[in-house]
Amino acid sequence: MRFPLLAFFILASSISAYEDRECGADLSHLWLDIVLVVDNSANMTFSELMIIGNTIKDVFMNGTKVGTQYSDPRSTRVGIVTYNLNATVAADLNTYQSTGDFIVGLFGALVTTTVTESYLKQGLLTARDTLYAGRQEVRQNYQQVIIVFTSQYGGSGEQDPKPVADRLKASGIQIITVFVDYDNNNDLRDKLSQIANPGYNFSTFDTNLVGELEGALLLMNCFCPNYWTQYTVPSNNGGLYKYGVCVRSSGIQASWNAAKFACHNYAKTGFLVSEFSQQKHDFVFNLVQKDTFNTPPYMYHIGLSRINGVWSWQQVNGQQVLPLQNETFWNPGYPTSLSSDSGVMNIQAGAELNVGWQNINLYTVAKIYILLIVLSTFLIAFSSAKYCDCPESHTCYRDRCYPRQTCKHGGAGPTDEYCGFERFCRGGYCYDMNEIYGR
Ligand SMILES: *[C@@H]1O[C@H](CO)[C@@H](O)[C@H](O)[C@H]1NC(C)=O
Ligand SMILES: *[C@@H]1O[C@H](CO)[C@@H](O)[C@H](O)[C@H]1NC(C)=O
Ligand SMILES: *[C@@H]1O[C@H](CO)[C@@H](O)[C@H](O)[C@H]1NC(C)=O
Ligand SMILES: *[C@@H]1O[C@H](CO)[C@@H](O)[C@H](O)[C@H]1NC(C)=O
Ligand SMILES: *[C@@H]1O[C@H](CO)[C@@H](O)[C@H](O)[C@H]1NC(C)=O
Repeated sequence: MRFPLLAFFILASSISAYEDRECGADLSHLWLDIVLVVDNSANMTFSELMIIGNTIKDVFMNGTKVGTQYSDPRSTRVGIVTYNLNATVAADLNTYQSTGDFIVGLFGALVTTTVTESYLKQGLLTARDTLYAGRQEVRQNYQQVIIVFTSQYGGSGEQDPKPVADRLKASGIQIITVFVDYDNNNDLRDKLSQIANPGYNFSTFDTNLVGELEGALLLMNCFCPNYWTQYTVPSNNGGLYKYGVCVRSSGIQASWNAAKFACHNYAKTGFLVSEFSQQKHDFVFNLVQKDTFNTPPYMYHIGLSRINGVWSWQQVNGQQVLPLQNETFWNPGYPTSLSSDSGVMNIQAGAELNVGWQNINLYTVAKIYILLIVLSTFLIAFSSAKYCDCPESHTCYRDRCYPRQTCKHGGAGPTDEYCGFERFCRGGYCYDMNEIYGR
């Protein structure tokens, strides 16, 4: 067990780049609850339904594990709802227990009808009921997704689907739309796009629809535990580009050096935040301002320090620190050369609402600090308070709490008391997630 883990870190340390970690790209690590909502009114011909079927098949036949019969909990359930005047549940979330079953069932469910009315609202409501009915305690953290396939907006007035879509999105369910395009109808496509979460509206005219859908599912699969904020930047499709890292303000004050150790101890992939770009610098400052406990003038430690004379960024424990590159945010007059002042904090130097870097003593200047964790898919499943609400003395595995002191350490050092968050107890031993399942 120890050796593959070590090998992973050696590999990872040789490839770390001067940028934040991307979200995962492995479709076999998808863990979602998805309901497909397919319009089968008379408007949808057999050939349109086959285009939809083949698109879905290509998306899911690329490693995604459908069903729940796997020892690895990273699996995806898929239900199918068809709709016209009314909606029908063709398959609930527990119907399919393998990807093969699902594909066969999918083509069986895609049958044409002669019903001319088509109300997307009915499809969305039935999809919502299917997601709620299939909610499982052990899958509390799995993201819920609806994917709509239709050639029309589907209803106005009473039957307008938008209010329902807005409520679903507000409740955390994410919606993808695929416009089944007959004749490059831009108006209809734009109208349907309002149903989707920003950036998640697609069309059968898109040249890489399968890739777009796979990308959307991978992004929906990449999210932060409760109380953490995902690092995002505006993307060029109107949505947000998500990175696979989460940040959080410490709330408590500590010296730079104590903060550094606190971050490494908090989680195996935790460290003091890095600011590789203006966007990240601004994002972190916004986060600090949003926390009402923090008041101007703002001051907070970041993961920059002088190590052997070189200004360097913190990394995951065991990886090489990264030398500071060209983009810098030093306040005027900084950095000073005093060797004891080797830590860096952001400080609001004047009345203007912005912060810049100032080097400070590593041991004496107590300020809040910003933690960053790099996401691994397992981090989320086993850590969130939603999953199970254990007292501090206990650790959560699946939906049960186990006393920490009954855990011996598999991956950690023999004197390390810590057995929580990214690690969990199984058979009386404390394991790292990736020791058991790989990443
Ligand atoms: C389906 O609806 C679209 C958009 O209103 C229209 O262009 C198309 O002709 C319709 N197809 C059929 C088979 O009714
Ligand atoms: C399968 O996934 C890989 C990696 O995400 C991607 O490069 C490839 O195009 C996908 N293949 C299909 C058929 O979608
Ligand atoms: C179908 O929808 C119509 C109009 O919304 C409704 O009157 C009817 O009862 C529904 N039929 C079924 C079988 O649900
Ligand atoms: C999504 O909707 C927006 C706004 O209507 C539109 O500009 C964009 O082209 C759509 N994206 C795709 C992939 O269709
Ligand atoms: C920093 O360097 C990169 C790569 O050399 C370059 O693309 C970027 O524009 C530079 N940024 C600044 C602010 O000079």
